[in-house]
Amino acid sequence: MPRKTTISLIKCDVGSLAGHHVVPKPLITIAEKNLETAKEDSLINSYYVFNVGDDLQLLMIHEKGESNPDIHKLAWNTFKEAANKALELKLYGAGQDLLKTAFSGNIRGMGPGVAEMEIEERGSDPMVVLAADKTSAGAYNLPIFRIFADPMNTAGLVIDPNMAGGFKFEVMDTQENEKVVLKCPEEMYELIALIGTVQRYMISRVWRARDDLICAVGSVTRLSQIAGKYVGKDDPVAIIRAQHGLPAVGEILAPFMHSYLVEGWMRGSHWGPIMPVALKDAKCTLFDGPPRIVALGFQVTNSKIACDDYGKPMIADLFDDPAFALARREALENASMLRHMGEFEPARLGPEEMEYTTLQQILDKLKERFKPA
Ligand code: F6R
Ligand code: MG
Ligand code: MG
Repeated sequence: MPRKTTISLIKCDVGSLAGHHVVPKPLITIAEKNLETAKEDSLINSYYVFNVGDDLQLLMIHEKGESNPDIHKLAWNTFKEAANKALELKLYGAGQDLLKTAFSGNIRGMGPGVAEMEIEERGSDPMVVLAADKTSAGAYNLPIFRIFADPMNTAGLVIDPNMAGGFKFEVMDTQENEKVVLKCPEEMYELIALIGTVQRYMISRVWRARDDLICAVGSVTRLSQIAGKYVGKDDPVAIIRAQHGLPAVGEILAPFMHSYLVEGWMRGSHWGPIMPVALKDAKCTLFDGPPRIVALGFQVTNSKIACDDYGKPMIADLFDDPAFALARREALENASMLRHMGEFEPARLGPEEMEYTTLQQILDKLKERFKPA
């Protein structure tokens, strides 16, 4: 049996400092302590804790497979402990994404976001993880489409014979809770027909078509559907495998040369421009945004994150680069344009999405004052 490695990225808003801004150090420390213990106990082999805005992110490498109850329990207990600390410090929104109380084996559907990928390691396996704050999973539809299906973005689709045959996309219909697989290039137009509707359809998995090699997974939870009301945006994560017959790291990053609009931002109720940033700038400020995205690169080596001589995982902060200054500038220019529109659509989301927000209570109060015209 070939050795199998699993990359699990599980995240949760457990409470934050000064509103929905950042996860403060004491909560990060709890996560690091728990994952270090799990490493000493050989449950996981390697980990990296970080935050993007108010979301605490647990990146774990192990050999237990996807949806493993012990791994999910480790994440759940860590989020609970961090939420308790947030409560004790009276931080804001303590335990915000912990929507269920009793853990029963799988953290999916309980509030936290999950992306997991089990792989057979290649000679060398470069990975990129994406993590965003103040937006929803549909925010990845455009870049993932461009990375794996757009030959104007990914030169390898044209130049590399190993990519001939294209990629297969699993798309979730989050409204009906159904999924479908479409293959590109043959079904590219149909794929766009679905995933252009970013609030409903979301890419959950991508495989290389010629050998079904798994190459991308995304978290596709809709918190509002679990909770039945607005409880913060989903703030999605994704894991993407790179190079050697897959899109190069630079092709994975190329869609972020320009900003584009995503749903989320203030009160999860607006279209906002995505801003690719370094970890140090992964904090939402202006109008609770603009929505931020981080890309981290690492190598998976013998079921671990490749480490330096001192055993420290080597993580590349990929958007920590002036090459993304244009996107950041575009994000601010678009932010300025949208904020000039205030609460008028299309700056604010359309009525279907606003149904899940507190706006509904305001509209309900006005209902009885309407008279036949
Ligand atoms: C968006 C987000 C924030 C809050 C906003 C109001 O995902 O978390 O924009 O929605 O700060 O927060 P509350 O209602 O907690 O005062
Ligand atoms: Mg929050
Ligand atoms: Mg968040």
